[in-house]
Amino acid sequence: MPDETAATPATPPAPTLFTWEFAADPYPAYAWLREHSPVHRTTLPSGVDAWLVTRYADARQALADARLSKNRGHHSEGANAKNKVGIPGERGADLMTHLLNIDPPDHTRLRRLVSKAFTPRRIAEFAPRVQELTDRLIDGLQMDEAGAVKSEADLIHEFAFPLPIYTICDLLGVPPEDQDDFRDWAGMMIRHGGGPRGGVARSVKKMRAYLLELIHRKRADPGDDLISGLIKASDHGEHLSENEAAAMAFILLFAGFETTVNLIGNGVYTLLRHPEQRAQLQASIARGETDLLETAVEELLRYDGPVELATWRFATQSLTIGGQRIGEGEPVLVVLAAADRDPDRFDGPDTLDLARRDNQHVGYGHGIHYCLGAPLARLEAQSALATLLTRLPDLRLAADPDDLRWRGGLIMRGLRTLPVGFTPEAGAGE
Ligand code: HEM
Repeated sequence: MPDETAATPATPPAPTLFTWEFAADPYPAYAWLREHSPVHRTTLPSGVDAWLVTRYADARQALADARLSKNRGHHSEGANAKNKVGIPGERGADLMTHLLNIDPPDHTRLRRLVSKAFTPRRIAEFAPRVQELTDRLIDGLQMDEAGAVKSEADLIHEFAFPLPIYTICDLLGVPPEDQDDFRDWAGMMIRHGGGPRGGVARSVKKMRAYLLELIHRKRADPGDDLISGLIKASDHGEHLSENEAAAMAFILLFAGFETTVNLIGNGVYTLLRHPEQRAQLQASIARGETDLLETAVEELLRYDGPVELATWRFATQSLTIGGQRIGEGEPVLVVLAAADRDPDRFDGPDTLDLARRDNQHVGYGHGIHYCLGAPLARLEAQSALATLLTRLPDLRLAADPDDLRWRGGLIMRGLRTLPVGFTPEAGAGE
């Protein structure tokens, strides 16, 4: 007989979002939301009210829903709230009119044009250059500034951070002598990305002036690089304007930079915490196989990917997601990290399985804004992981996981530092 007096288990209390504890491990809170409040109204740290969408099926629907606009002009809360979601103007005006902030038909036109220059073939041809950069950075990890051999490093600052910035600069055609400026500007943005003014605004301004100048130079003297490709790209006789080309170069840098830093940082951290699977991956790479490396990068993206929440969307009319009514003008944030741990879609969603096959995660988004740079991200992550695990086979965490700090930003998920130890290679520092 069932015990009629036993209380049905009470719903555990709603978790507190956006604290430091939440940043360190948001997944239990996301599990609660998926189960008890899958489309959840919350007040963000900036003071803006928004809906969080946490189930996989709802996330896919929302990401592909044309009634959700990327144009911040649709936000209902007026100019004040728009500034809190990071409206253009403060951050360098024209650069913000980019793919992630616009809807069709402008989006369709610009995406078609950039796709002519940013082709999978161009990315594949770039593989040897990415490998060269990866190798150079791994040489650097083993050497201090005076040239002496060392056996500890911060993997974020010395490896995960420079790899994508130099890669994108090379791809765009930024000359080597100017790339350290980009590194500084990007560093400013990643450190203070959520902050509204000051150094970030200055960095964006400098970057814009530089990019416009570079576009002028490339127009006069085109090369085999992506900026020259963007200038040349035409569709039905249409070209990108200079401002559009600068905004495109900026979004490639901006969207392709911190994401990749975090994919490498979160990915290495996860591998170091799963020694058995890491050993299997290492053995497979040593045998010259690529299958497990490829599924591993996808699984690391699903398990603890760099983009926690997709970028802002605004309801252009009232609509229903997961049975919840969303009012016109209200902001919607799709929580990719929650959708990718949804037990209704993934078997054992909280378990890392580097060999996972049925893995259609939403880490790169979905629909018309699906990540344009996914082939480049895969190339960089595969090159970074394979080379690190091959050249520094005893790579280990050199900090207590409880002491590691996660960046507190809204959209991205990544570590501030990742101290690692290793045995330097024979000949390191020479
Ligand atoms: C869009 C993730 C790397 C360029 C997106 C979106 C996601 C994403 C989730 C869609 C956002 C939304 O719908 O709100 C990632 C991840 C990366 C990565 C996880 C891993 C490293 C890159 C790289 C580049 C890049 C390397 C280019 C160099 C873009 C661009 C868009 C985009 C241009 C906007 C596409 C559009 O609106 O049509 N990315 N990204 N991403 N990504 Fe990536």
